[in-house]
Amino acid sequence: MAKSLHISSFLLTLLILTSALSFSLITAKKPKSRDGYSRVLSPATLRLKKEKLSHLRFYFHDIVAGPNPTAVQIVRAPSTNLSSTGFGMVAMIDDPLTAGPEPTSKLVGRAQGIYGSASLGDVGLLMALNFAFVDGKFNGSTLSILGRNAVMSPVREMPVVGGSGVFRFARGYAQARTRKFNLRTGDAVVEYNVYVFHY
Ligand SMILES: *[C@@H]1O[C@H](CO)[C@@H](O)[C@H](O)[C@H]1NC(C)=O
Ligand SMILES: *[C@@H]1O[C@H](CO)[C@@H](O)[C@H](O)[C@H]1NC(C)=O
Repeated sequence: MAKSLHISSFLLTLLILTSALSFSLITAKKPKSRDGYSRVLSPATLRLKKEKLSHLRFYFHDIVAGPNPTAVQIVRAPSTNLSSTGFGMVAMIDDPLTAGPEPTSKLVGRAQGIYGSASLGDVGLLMALNFAFVDGKFNGSTLSILGRNAVMSPVREMPVVGGSGVFRFARGYAQARTRKFNLRTGDAVVEYNVYVFHY
């Protein structure tokens, strides 16, 4: 008895949920334009207020050596005489981002993505990264970076191509400066200054 009651209340819940779902499918506002799948919205509909400009500064720790690397090579550069720039190498990273330059400093996010050696003439990386923040008002939000990183230059600029959460509609740029590079291990600490427009 108790079991069948349990099952029927489960079924009832399911019924309510599915009918609510189909109701919402029917009542969801349909795009009104002639093409049938798009419409023009007022920014107020998405509760977008004034656009802000934020400056974020954090330190990127690219750890390639030791027992717990955060950057791993997934494609080796072919051993031709092009390899003086490592052309063809690809690495996957999940690098910690900290508030200060020390690795023990407060973790504010992680840089997750791929970089690859995309230049024949110099050491120039193609960076395709998401900065995933885990602290403060940007906790849970991400910024997406897609750009060229000529690692030997003192300052490299990469576009912010978008974002999520607080960073929806983001655009801007990131400047990278290498603060530490261990020639023996390849480990690096890079300062990032990110200037980003968002709502
Ligand atoms: C590249 O390697 C080939 C074969 O080893 C050699 O003949 C050629 O001169 C090299 N080219 C350059 C630009 O070093
Ligand atoms: C960030 O958000 C997660 C998920 O909501 C939460 O568990 C965590 O405590 C937050 N961290 C900080 C430092 O606010």
